[in-house]
Amino acid sequence: MRKKITLITGASGEIGQALIKNLKENSDLPVVTLDLNPLPDEVQAMVTALQGDILDKALLARLVSEYEIETIYHLAALLSTRSEFTPETAHRVNVEGSLGLLQLAAEQSAWRGEPVKFIFPSSIAAYGLPDLETKNKDTHVREWDWNTPRTMYGCNKLYCEMLGTYFSDYYRQLAPEKSVMLDFRSLRFPGLISAFTVPSGGTSDYGPEMLHHAAQNKPYACFVREDVRIPFMAMPDAVKALLLLTSAKRENLKRHVYNITAFSLSAVEFRDWVLKFFPNAQVTFQPDLKRQAIVDSWPGDLDDSAAQQDWGWSPDYGVERSFKEYLVPNIRARYQGSKMPRTIE
Ligand code: SER
Repeated sequence: MRKKITLITGASGEIGQALIKNLKENSDLPVVTLDLNPLPDEVQAMVTALQGDILDKALLARLVSEYEIETIYHLAALLSTRSEFTPETAHRVNVEGSLGLLQLAAEQSAWRGEPVKFIFPSSIAAYGLPDLETKNKDTHVREWDWNTPRTMYGCNKLYCEMLGTYFSDYYRQLAPEKSVMLDFRSLRFPGLISAFTVPSGGTSDYGPEMLHHAAQNKPYACFVREDVRIPFMAMPDAVKALLLLTSAKRENLKRHVYNITAFSLSAVEFRDWVLKFFPNAQVTFQPDLKRQAIVDSWPGDLDDSAAQQDWGWSPDYGVERSFKEYLVPNIRARYQGSKMPRTIE
């Protein structure tokens, strides 16, 4: 008998580390992780960690021979800024990697006669608003609006949402017998902020970078203009959303892909929140026009009413609570000790 597990790819990233800690406390299923990078020691101890490439077919085959996968959190991806430097590699990892895992999940679902849940984090990068005038006017962007991304990462995420939907609803639609298909569920995350890790390779990174620099008393030059606005979310809410969506009843889900958000801030409002807690923070604005243009194409705010209605989504952490109760105390404690947070590659 193969052992039932939850699989997390890209587990050493920011979401992965937070998710592992939560699953350890709230789920009985053992967790197996797959990542190119080793996990930090404290999370490694909680899982069976495989180090390897999601594109390694032999490794995936070995995984399936040993385990029955109930749920896959497919978190492995190259983020938006990094993807622009190596677009072909981004496509391989973000699209071909996802395709391989969808095939694996499809086979597992058919084999065991029960759908494998495939949970896929997508992003505000799936949107591409044409100009600032539209961005300022349309502040409640819905899932089907402006699906015209301008980054490789955004294109990859949008396409993988469609692939997942296809595998969930239409895969092998012309085969003589219908087999059980996988159950694809996706969230479009806003910019995420963790107290314990610092992102790298993303374009929403200026928020968390500003805060982590301030806590270390280091000056920070923000790479976008003061007025640039995007939605953000504290990491505990991101994990809560993943788990809520995972446990939602399929019949309640009218979509495969949902927007979620917590609060929306301009870069200067973000700076002002940082200054409330770190009054000596030295933040300047030195826009990098190219990265700026990417953030300009992302929505200033999202409409997440479908998630609220279908699976009861609501964030626990508004902006004040995020800073006061989660980010600032944990970041302060972190930098007071000797341990620097990991930068996530
Ligand atoms: N945080 C991501 C990035 O900046 C967007 O989802 O690439």
